[in-house]
Amino acid sequence: AAILGLWAVIGYLLGSIPFGMVLARVMGLGNLRDIGSGNIGATNVLRTGNKTAAALTLLLDGGKGVVAVLLARAFGGEDTAQIAALMAMIGHCYPIWLRFAGGKGVATFLGLMLALSLPVGIGCCIAWLVGAFTVRISSMGAIVSSLASLILLPALGAGHALFLGLVLSLILLWRHRGNIARIRAGTEPKIGQKP
Ligand code: G3P
Repeated sequence: AAILGLWAVIGYLLGSIPFGMVLARVMGLGNLRDIGSGNIGATNVLRTGNKTAAALTLLLDGGKGVVAVLLARAFGGEDTAQIAALMAMIGHCYPIWLRFAGGKGVATFLGLMLALSLPVGIGCCIAWLVGAFTVRISSMGAIVSSLASLILLPALGAGHALFLGLVLSLILLWRHRGNIARIRAGTEPKIGQKP
């Protein structure tokens, strides 16, 4: 139990690093809260016009999910890895440093899936690309990707992580409730466009 608790805390702390916010500040792109959707993720960093910063945000926000799972798995096994994964997602979406007002968890979700099961993670990334680029809406990619994980996890031999995938997807969808309302209203901005 102690090791589970330890990796829950480490997972949360890793997940809570707001790389987009930090990069935007360090690279002189301004405060993400004043830009586009105000979100701290790669999609909103792209609205600053800086593609390098957006790509780095995607890689680092995804990478912290990968690191959380791989480290927790190495030290505590599969159950510990799953707890660290859940807590990394919660850390990204509800970071203590930003008074619990964090991101929407897409890059972190993809990183977690890649680390939990490489084939499932790759499938989720493809689902994101298909969902996002058919309509040129980032949040659509996120929604499609989270739903795809619920099919891919059991289909690709990672059924042991299906419940975790369901919880992660629910968090992701909950964080996208504003985006979902805008998609339904036809007002969600296209990729790279400012809302
Ligand atoms: O990465 C989050 C994405 O799905 C939506 O971001 O800034 O358009 O709300 P945003």
